[in-house]
Amino acid sequence: MELFVSEGNPHCLKVLAALEVTGVQCSVQYVNHEERVVPFLSRPTLPALLLPTGLHLFSSNAICRYLFEVSGQECSEFCNQWLEWEATDLQPALLQALYMAVLQGKGSEVSTVLQGPLKFLDQSLSKGGMPYLTGEAVSVADVVLWAALYPVLSDSSQALGEHKSVNGWFDRVASIHSCLSAAQKVLQGKGLQGMKSYMQRQPAPQSSQGRNTQPCNCNPIEGEEGERAFSEEELEAAILNWSKGLSTSPLATDRQHPILPQEGKRNILVTSALPYVNNVPHLGNIIGCVLSADVFSRYGRLRGWNLLFVCGTDEYGTATENKAREEGLTPQLICDKYHAVHSSIYKWFQIDFDFFGRTTTEKQTEIAQDIFWRLHKNGFLVEDTVEQLRCEQCQRFLADRFVEGICPHCKYPEARGDQCDKCGRLINAVELREPQCKVCRQTPVIRSSKHLFLDLPKLETQLEQWLEKSTSTGDWTTNAKQITRSWLRDGLKPRCITRDLLWGTPVPHPDFKEKVFYVWFDAPIGYLSITANYTDEWEKWWKNPHQVELYNFMAKDNVPFHSVVFPCSLLGAQDNYTLVSHLVATEYLNYEDTKFSKSRGVGVFGDMAKDTGIPADVWRFYLLYVRPEGQDSAFSWADMALKNNSELLNNLGNFINRAGMFVTKFFEGCVPVMELQQEDKKLLALVGWELQQYIQLMDKVKIRDALKHILNISRHGNQYIQVNEPWKNIKGGDTERQRAGTVTGVSVNIACLLSVMLMPYMPEVSQTIRNQLNAPQSCVSTMLQGNGTFVCSLCAGHRIGTVSPLFQKLEADQIEALKKRFGGQQPEDEPSKEKTPQSAASTQPAAVPAPAAAVEVVTVNGVDPEKAKQLTQAVAEQGDKVRALKAQNAEKAVITAEVAKLLDLKKQLALAEGKSPEPAPQKGKKKK
Ligand code: 2FM
Ligand code: ZN
Repeated sequence: MELFVSEGNPHCLKVLAALEVTGVQCSVQYVNHEERVVPFLSRPTLPALLLPTGLHLFSSNAICRYLFEVSGQECSEFCNQWLEWEATDLQPALLQALYMAVLQGKGSEVSTVLQGPLKFLDQSLSKGGMPYLTGEAVSVADVVLWAALYPVLSDSSQALGEHKSVNGWFDRVASIHSCLSAAQKVLQGKGLQGMKSYMQRQPAPQSSQGRNTQPCNCNPIEGEEGERAFSEEELEAAILNWSKGLSTSPLATDRQHPILPQEGKRNILVTSALPYVNNVPHLGNIIGCVLSADVFSRYGRLRGWNLLFVCGTDEYGTATENKAREEGLTPQLICDKYHAVHSSIYKWFQIDFDFFGRTTTEKQTEIAQDIFWRLHKNGFLVEDTVEQLRCEQCQRFLADRFVEGICPHCKYPEARGDQCDKCGRLINAVELREPQCKVCRQTPVIRSSKHLFLDLPKLETQLEQWLEKSTSTGDWTTNAKQITRSWLRDGLKPRCITRDLLWGTPVPHPDFKEKVFYVWFDAPIGYLSITANYTDEWEKWWKNPHQVELYNFMAKDNVPFHSVVFPCSLLGAQDNYTLVSHLVATEYLNYEDTKFSKSRGVGVFGDMAKDTGIPADVWRFYLLYVRPEGQDSAFSWADMALKNNSELLNNLGNFINRAGMFVTKFFEGCVPVMELQQEDKKLLALVGWELQQYIQLMDKVKIRDALKHILNISRHGNQYIQVNEPWKNIKGGDTERQRAGTVTGVSVNIACLLSVMLMPYMPEVSQTIRNQLNAPQSCVSTMLQGNGTFVCSLCAGHRIGTVSPLFQKLEADQIEALKKRFGGQQPEDEPSKEKTPQSAASTQPAAVPAPAAAVEVVTVNGVDPEKAKQLTQAVAEQGDKVRALKAQNAEKAVITAEVAKLLDLKKQLALAEGKSPEPAPQKGKKKK
């Protein structure tokens, strides 16, 4: 391998640092900036890495990643995200900063330009609480970002403000000798001035070109691309596409139900995890499941795929029975009531299901029982006797989380039926000493009961073969693959599929007459039964694996049921079922710095969003903008306001509105004649390129990333208008007026394209734009062709409609008020036994109140009741976290660390409650 670099080139600093850190064998050639190391390129491009295959890599980040991979250090998804951020967010700002500092002598303005990215980096580092960007060890992300920032951060004349975490991290990386040595080689000890000759050969960064830069209340840098160069052929292709105009065989826009698979079409079946009926979904639930699936479905329809999107409420199980008891209704009435609540929330969010059903239907019984009998007949069910606790007073068997007692290991008095929060051990409920029913506090009795188990070990090989294929050909998110792998790593165990409950699909076997199916056996079958309630021909979707691609959307905690347990049910049933091809799982969305919690009144729940006065589309936009894609993310009011005001109002809305207003004001509402010059052609190519990026990402269900390309387009558009000043040209002579016309015509066509690209994200805004532009229906066909083309869809002479602003500013006081309202401080007069439905989320056992002793009052023991209250909550949440990790079979070290945190919280709680911390901890589990 051979690496070509030049002095003073900051990108070469990155690759040299990566080379030295990884120690990969490779010769290094220093050449001057103008040297063409690769003869076929139209201009010199450095750095360049000549691979053993004879191919070259030119992108500095790709080279760094390659070097790390060659040295055996795989680039994680998280790492990739940092590299992406570096290239798309940090680089444009840096380019501008370096331009100002090195060439314009405006060093003092550098801090303004870099403030946004540095702040983001600082927050990420301090939130992550880790020494390096992606964990405990240096990764390619650290090297790339460090090297990129080195010229400015190492220059003491730059007062870049206090970024404590960035500074600590920067020094840490700088202490790696190889990094500093690379910097020395590239900058020759001359600091920023070492880059002068390189910078002089660079095009001026875009945002300093125009005479007027953008209004300063939006950040002109964020997300902006450096100038992208297009070859003559690319420019020609862009113009050819543009002038082709709209497709003559446009997309059919009204759907004919029932939608069924069709020969020769891409047949896509989309499901989103069926929400528990007894919960009001919060924003995190909405983004992970229905909203993500909705965006993808809307996009798929734009692509002309033959697509069916189904969902519905998951209605059976203990949680529903409890809710019914709590509200004094029958389970059926509870389901009816909350099914309607869910429906109306999703309707408000404009989730465009083809069918939204429920699991408590006859079809469910029919299909679940059929699958059951097939599994039985094929020998994949085994019987076993289980000892269980039964509460005679409540007349029911107690699910693990409804019993409490003394831990048999550490004697902690409040251990639960599945684990002890004190010593962290797993417990079998029948081993608890002095067990109590958490509902009525009576002592339950031990009863044995016969149950049926799905024989997962017997299906394991088959499952693995299928997984191998599905995960390699389909688009499974990284977390979905990881969670599945970790389940398989330790070997599968039989899973109980029956329960002693009333509210469930009855087990049809005569020996198990009193039992129902376990909700996790039953729920995914809901996808099939819901489709069966939509169309009698449901089997064309569900027993048709060769014609149908199935996309399952969910949050990560649902993964094992969709990747292991349910596929095993279907494989064992042997009826040619359609199994998941693409498993798309999000990480978690937090609320500000904490978690959503109904019981604490923290966070925005689906039914409250509309009371904020913020339009559904703005909610959708922001949730999608922070979609936890690849890592957890957080909803933040301040950030929502910022994104609304900068991205929607100042960037997107501003561009579309200006384009439309120019047509209205300067050209009597008719699109003017356009005569394209070189600059316009470049813009067409650039917009086309962004469109293609959007399509590539959306095809891979990278919904959040694709959204950024929409915003890039309007940024380019604003820049174009700003530089070409049609409002001035319109007052000039013929040539100038002609120029104003071209710029206006191109802009309004970009606005039209944006409306189509926005359709999946903001359906109402998209429609409003098309109404304002009076756009032809056929403009939605622009993504039908392979990778999408930017065509002229509003030709000269087209009359547009009435243009008006699309977005409203979110004011600081409005946001403050909302933050207060949803931030968890419950108003004094609103006791915490809220009339709104209590959370019955599976992760919140503590929230299931007893009818009489509903709310446990934290006694004031003279210590710190407020703190105790917070700690009680923290303990409950940490307990949930530990249980969830165990349920996912997470790494042992991870669980141990979380258990340690839990124990520590408990200790703090005891102190805050005025109790002495509990007695001797277990051996080997010392608390710090
Ligand atoms: O976690 C949940 O909300 C479950 N009700 C999801 C079920 S998904 C599918 F299997 F139905
Ligand atoms: Zn009881």
